[in-house]
Amino acid sequence: MVPSTSSSPAVRGPVLVVGGAGYIGSHTVRHLEEHGVPVVVLDNLSTGHRAAVRSPLEVVDLADRERLAEVFARVRPAGVVHFAAKCYVGESVTDPSKYYRENVLCTWNLLEAMRASGTRDIVFSSTCATYGNPVRLPLTEDHPQVPISPYGKTKLHIEHMLQDYSRAYGLRVAAPRYFNAAGAAQDGTLGEHHEPETHLIPLVLQVALGQHKEITIFGTDYPTADGTCIRDYIHVEDLADAHRRALAVLQSGTTELFVNLGTGTGFSVRQVIETARRVTGHAIPTRIAERRAGDPPELVSGGRARWTSSDGNRVERASRTSCAMRGASCAPIRAASTAPDARRALRVPFRCAHGSRPSRTCTFDVLARRTRGNSAREAEGIGVRGARRG
Ligand SMILES: NC(=O)c1ccc[n+]([C@@H]2O[C@H](COP(=O)([O-])OP(=O)(O)OC[C@H]3O[C@@H](n4cnc5c(N)ncnc54)[C@H](O)[C@@H]3O)[C@@H](O)[C@H]2O)c1
Repeated sequence: MVPSTSSSPAVRGPVLVVGGAGYIGSHTVRHLEEHGVPVVVLDNLSTGHRAAVRSPLEVVDLADRERLAEVFARVRPAGVVHFAAKCYVGESVTDPSKYYRENVLCTWNLLEAMRASGTRDIVFSSTCATYGNPVRLPLTEDHPQVPISPYGKTKLHIEHMLQDYSRAYGLRVAAPRYFNAAGAAQDGTLGEHHEPETHLIPLVLQVALGQHKEITIFGTDYPTADGTCIRDYIHVEDLADAHRRALAVLQSGTTELFVNLGTGTGFSVRQVIETARRVTGHAIPTRIAERRAGDPPELVSGGRARWTSSDGNRVERASRTSCAMRGASCAPIRAASTAPDARRALRVPFRCAHGSRPSRTCTFDVLARRTRGNSAREAEGIGVRGARRG
């Protein structure tokens, strides 16, 4: 997790966090509140947890359009962050109806409620699963989106809906495509709780806690250095921060923002297990199983992105860094507040304040170029990226 710097774009509330009782949603709710943004959570608690929410909670199903309209009329949200979805890839193959209903239809209900109440801004949880099998790595935003599971397809349908609603009805939409969310709150009071749990890191830690006797590795014959799959794990508190920044970008006039959210560095299943062994001191026994269908060998985020906007002529950059001296405050030496070209600015090398050549530098940038006088939706550039350079 990368410590925050002082650069914190303001967000107008109240923000309706849909699915805010779930894993990423509850961390985002907490993060927004810590930044003084009033929040109301809307969740049907199907996979979320009441105990994870301290803000006002509306227990409502997105399928219930009447209740949804009533909440919008009462809360009058200035923006929406939408996490609610069914998210099991395997289940989406065996029961696609559930995924089209819960993901596509329910999001349509939400967008209609927004339109009816005049709420313009929405940040939607998209996923690298919209890309399907990588034809090149790292996965940049211009990689073809050919999802291979109904889960990924429903998320891509929603991205298209958002674009169409933005263009036709003036909604301002952001769809960060997450790679693998991971981690817990630094104070240990909020973590990850899925049932069933399918994510590697919590499963490995459950073995260390004695809750399972071993961790299953699905496939050791992938074309990777150690034969196991490589994934890009991004800390959940960084995701939370990215949502707040994305909402701020929309509120400052950007109309569409489709960006990857990953660290740019992949770790193999074996590397994760090794790290957990080292940290916990537990042997963490493993069991080798066949590959699972539909698991690409490697999914790692690239940092190039696109956005569109209607006005302005400014590059805004918010960045934060950490280095090998974790926990110490660390500022980028080159943190231009303006840059002539957002894409080029993305490639500015970051160096931290603790040495001219830090061994590890993490950056998280939000760049927004706003060009005055453009036709409404001329393509421009934005990057939201976490990058780790050796
Ligand atoms: N966890 C990851 O690694 C990851 C990666 C990429 C994308 N995503 C996306 O991020 C989002 C959040 O993921 P998560 O891991 O926090 O999931 P989660 O299951 O923990 O959270 C989803 C929340 O939405 C609520 N919900 C579901 N359907 C609802 C409905 N019809 N009406 C109201 N509330 C409803 C659930 O009760 C839950 O609180 C999902 O959209 C997922 O597709 C997650």
